[in-house]
Amino acid sequence: MASSRPLLRTARQLTTSQFRHISTTPSPPSPPPDLNTPPPPPKKKLKPLTPQQSSLLSSFLRVNQAGELAATLIYTAQTPPILAREPHLRPLMKHMYDQEADHLRVFNSLIATHRVRPTALYPLWSVLATGLGWSTAVMGKEAAMACTEAVETEIGGHYNAQIRKLLEMVTEWEREGYDVGEEFTELIKTLRRIRDEELEHLDHAVEHDAQKAEPHWLLTGVIRAGCRGAIWVSERV
Ligand SMILES: [Fe+2]
Ligand SMILES: [Fe+2]
Repeated sequence: MASSRPLLRTARQLTTSQFRHISTTPSPPSPPPDLNTPPPPPKKKLKPLTPQQSSLLSSFLRVNQAGELAATLIYTAQTPPILAREPHLRPLMKHMYDQEADHLRVFNSLIATHRVRPTALYPLWSVLATGLGWSTAVMGKEAAMACTEAVETEIGGHYNAQIRKLLEMVTEWEREGYDVGEEFTELIKTLRRIRDEELEHLDHAVEHDAQKAEPHWLLTGVIRAGCRGAIWVSERV
């Protein structure tokens, strides 16, 4: 990611779009300025990203895209074995898959827009996520839901940590008198929405007997440790 606030519209783009609105037909004379009205406050500037901030944002987008790809693959692999035994879960599985597919679309688009390199371990994560989804679903509905519970617990915390970091950047820019910019504000809003949907999946999993999986502590412990490892590696590689 470039170091000049690539998440934000550049001054050149703003100027271009303003030019499009200039009319070529003569306009009526404008009234004399009201000298009693105070002038509007000067427009705040965007602060360029430091190289560290830029690389942090790249790593956020990279790991999120990898995680959402893994999530879609887990649900894709879980759905047939679960529905074979529990057909009434079709709407729930579809709902969760559809939300994951939307998250993946969001991060695919963000990494393309900001030219962030995807994780080099894409093929490895794909195989592991499919294997995790299929094996937990074959163990039964409870194990599949325990997998969702474990994954979403880690992912919810992961998105929260990212949101906290971005809010720290916002607080600092505002303290220094800079504009935060619409694109950055939108990114935080998107992360909050996705975080809430992940936590909704966690609730669904618990409501559908995740904690009755045997042995629950081992299954969720191993999966949570695996998620933390995958997050750590995907942020870097
Ligand atoms: Fe997701
Ligand atoms: Fe999720």
